[in-house]
Amino acid sequence: MVSGRGSNMQAVIHACKNGKLKARPVVVISNNATAGALDIARKESIPAFHLSQNTHPDAGSLDRAISEIFQQHQVDLVILAGYMKKIGPVLLNTYKKRIINIHPSLLPKFGGRGMYGINVHAAVLAAGETVTGATVHLVEGEYDSGAILGQQQVAVLTGDTPESLAARVLAVEHALYVDVLQNIIDGKIYLP
Ligand code: GRF
Repeated sequence: MVSGRGSNMQAVIHACKNGKLKARPVVVISNNATAGALDIARKESIPAFHLSQNTHPDAGSLDRAISEIFQQHQVDLVILAGYMKKIGPVLLNTYKKRIINIHPSLLPKFGGRGMYGINVHAAVLAAGETVTGATVHLVEGEYDSGAILGQQQVAVLTGDTPESLAARVLAVEHALYVDVLQNIIDGKIYLP
């Protein structure tokens, strides 16, 4: 599930296609009709759909429609890759402990409401942190909550701007997401 540029999604798709990950990306859903991620998915020949308040004004019917698409495509694991909307109760329940997300900080630090995109890195710098990083975690309802499945640190350097920090963290995110997925596939991370 994506909302924007889709670089994490691209990293996961590449890892599947080059054999690093024994997994198959089967469907992409975006709440944003103009997301770059949708173009990437379609170029990779992965079915990609726009589902949002615009296509489904009723929140319950949107939630059910997303779950149905995943079930039709026999999805085992839902990967959020820059998805900016809250997950509905039907999807959460249908894919209990089968929805994972990546966040550009060392959660629980710099997570929660308003902590997305460049805001996260600006807050890290404002707090004078010397280390930040990325976190992959289970999605269990609240923003950026749920069991942590993997983390990777990134040093904050003198002279870093939110943008320079974001770029270094993003590169780490791509590798971390693939590593965590591999650990799930290998059973090293057990999803009950
Ligand atoms: C990433 O920084 C991710 O941690 C956050 O949203 C951003 C998505 O970037 N959840 P991209 O669309 O994968 O390039």
